[in-house]
Amino acid sequence: MAHDFTGKVALVTGAGGGIGRATAEALAAAGASVVVGDVSAKGGEETVALIAAKGGKASFVRCDVSQEADVAAIVDHAVSTYGQLDIAVNNAGVDPEVAPAAQWKLEDFDRIHAINTRGVFLCMKAEIAAMQKAGGGAIINVGSFASVSGVVNKPAYTASKHAVLGLTRAAALQYGREGIRINAVCPGGVKTAILVDNVGTSAEAEAAVAAAHPIGRAGESQDIAEAILWLASPASGFVLGHGLVIDGGLSAQ
Ligand SMILES: NC(=O)c1ccc[n+]([C@@H]2O[C@H](COP(=O)([O-])OP(=O)(O)OC[C@H]3O[C@@H](n4cnc5c(N)ncnc54)[C@H](O)[C@@H]3O)[C@@H](O)[C@H]2O)c1
Repeated sequence: MAHDFTGKVALVTGAGGGIGRATAEALAAAGASVVVGDVSAKGGEETVALIAAKGGKASFVRCDVSQEADVAAIVDHAVSTYGQLDIAVNNAGVDPEVAPAAQWKLEDFDRIHAINTRGVFLCMKAEIAAMQKAGGGAIINVGSFASVSGVVNKPAYTASKHAVLGLTRAAALQYGREGIRINAVCPGGVKTAILVDNVGTSAEAEAAVAAAHPIGRAGESQDIAEAILWLASPASGFVLGHGLVIDGGLSAQ
């Protein structure tokens, strides 16, 4: 179904590439004004340029989601520039970890949790306050198949993505009656920089990733953006506190 977000204001973190960029582009194509947040100014500005080239409305704000002042500033930007905040996609995340048990690193644990877990916590806190003023809204947090399964060699990433689902459920229960619907998406392997960093770009690696997914291929960023737009739209109006798995069957095994 084609969505119409005309007049709506959306914020997407980690929108300088990958799933966040595809989501920002799709929201703008459906009529939303989009605030693009990222630590990377290069990636964020590119996303804004891609949206503008297609006639969409977007602006970039550099934002490290682990920093409370950055998060407050980007939510303020959305409200002061476009009038309110209706949709927030907390997508920024990192996955640098390959840690056989004896080599688990505390600095990996702290960095991953600072961005993946604390970032979602801080973003929701500021976004919910803005949405209460607007009288409602939709928040979609980006988890992972690691929100619902254990991933070998990735203890901190797995814990952080389980935490994203926990934050989603707790906040959804608290704010559903105020018209703020909070849900999550849980992607399988998606062809983005994170996946390339983890497995490389060889034909063998690509074939192995495809084979790991019962559907026979890796995900595309658009597969995930499509589900995020549905969760942001009135079409999913009775969906609350849900973690929507979009993983080509990976976690069904
Ligand atoms: N690609 C996959 O296979 C996959 C699978 C499951 C879940 N995910 C999740 O999807 C989300 C998006 O990842 P992606 O695959 O598009 O990767 P990506 O690396 O292409 O995009 C992540 C973006 O987040 C930004 N970012 C990193 N740290 C940040 C911070 N502190 N503050 C703000 N922005 C920051 C990066 O600059 C980048 O633009 C992540 O939360 C990731 O864990 C990805």
